[in-house]
Amino acid sequence: MNTQRVLTGITTSGTPHLGNYVGAIRPTVRASRLPGVESFYFLADYHALIKTSGDPARVQRSTLEIAATWLACGLDPEKVTFYRQSDIPEIPELTWMLTCVTGKGLLNRAHAYKASVDKNTESGAEPDDGVTAGLFMYPVLMAADILMFNAHQVPVGRDQIQHIEMARDIAASYNHLYGEHFTLPEAAIEDNVATLPGLDGRKMSKSYDNTIPLFVPRDQLKKLIMGIVTDSRAPGEPKSTEGSALFQLYQAFASAEETAALAKAYADGIAWGEAKQLLFERLDREIAPMREVYEGLIQDPARIEKTLKMGAAKARAIATPFTQRLRHAVGLRALDTRADAATAKAAKAALPVFKQYREKDGLFYFKLTDAKGAVLLQSTGFAAPREAAQAMARLQAEGKAALDALAPQLIAPDDVERVTSALNVLRQSAA
Ligand code: TRP
Repeated sequence: MNTQRVLTGITTSGTPHLGNYVGAIRPTVRASRLPGVESFYFLADYHALIKTSGDPARVQRSTLEIAATWLACGLDPEKVTFYRQSDIPEIPELTWMLTCVTGKGLLNRAHAYKASVDKNTESGAEPDDGVTAGLFMYPVLMAADILMFNAHQVPVGRDQIQHIEMARDIAASYNHLYGEHFTLPEAAIEDNVATLPGLDGRKMSKSYDNTIPLFVPRDQLKKLIMGIVTDSRAPGEPKSTEGSALFQLYQAFASAEETAALAKAYADGIAWGEAKQLLFERLDREIAPMREVYEGLIQDPARIEKTLKMGAAKARAIATPFTQRLRHAVGLRALDTRADAATAKAAKAALPVFKQYREKDGLFYFKLTDAKGAVLLQSTGFAAPREAAQAMARLQAEGKAALDALAPQLIAPDDVERVTSALNVLRQSAA
């Protein structure tokens, strides 16, 4: 089976809170450790410009905080590809190529855009009042994020499902016009991940101003928890777990046994103050070690910057040659390469492909297959996907010379001549 590519991004417009942690950060970090997946996690700072235009300091601060949060929560930048969207200039370039195959009507139907229009209509304003073209184009930028890396699975919240469907539609339009370049992505919705209540019992969300930031200092965490709404039952009176924000928060962090013990304490009439103390201790037990790492990282932005630059290099090892292919496909070509429709079709059909995948031994491999899927060349295992990507990029760029130079990392091919000519074909199609 081919490796599943998993990709997700977080818009850098705020400070991560417990709801983000439980709903998105914790599950994605866990998923990134599973065998057989190749993960791409990124800071969606181009998207942040749509929500926070006019507040550059906020975008920068949020990018730092979200990067530090992801790393503090255990994301391993050696194992996954962890990068900042705006470090990949191929993404806005792809956005334009996709824009040109996207129906305006498709974007008219986007929920976020429609909600703005409906609000304006209700209040008697012009339909597009205050709507930027950035908001309108949001789904295309997001499609470029996903399609650039041919992600199979995109873990997102339910509110983002429509965006993934649009990415599929846009990919299909491009593929129809220019050949099968893009994988059609699917939304991966975690059904058993809790939606956390906030301080006031409604869903924890920045827009309700009821959040508990993930990495506030310990004493502040305690203060916030003491402020969670409860009913007015006195100590000694049995309490109901149903609809108790306190209980739901506890459950999101505690084991099944711990949760059962708290349910019993509720039935036995635990005082709210005492229950809040239990919640605080349980939360802090999970958060404290990460908080320490987080604080160290925030003090050292240069280190995060370096990590992100390394991630960008890894991402661009894929994005740069792929964008070359996409440019060529749409006709953005050097004038001395000749390709009329018939030869282009034939060339595409006959094109060999590199495939990268991960084996049970945890190592990263690639193979080169001909257009019919027969294996021409096979690598040995690499510790990091980046190393495999670099070797592929080198083979594609240098052909036979790289084949000799990389011999220790390759299984000697049966037919060197066929491999060499396949590499030449690939190089020419990318030029
Ligand atoms: N739109 C997503 C959100 O607001 C963030 C995002 C941007 C994203 N690009 C993405 C998520 C690509 C998944 C894949 O939550």
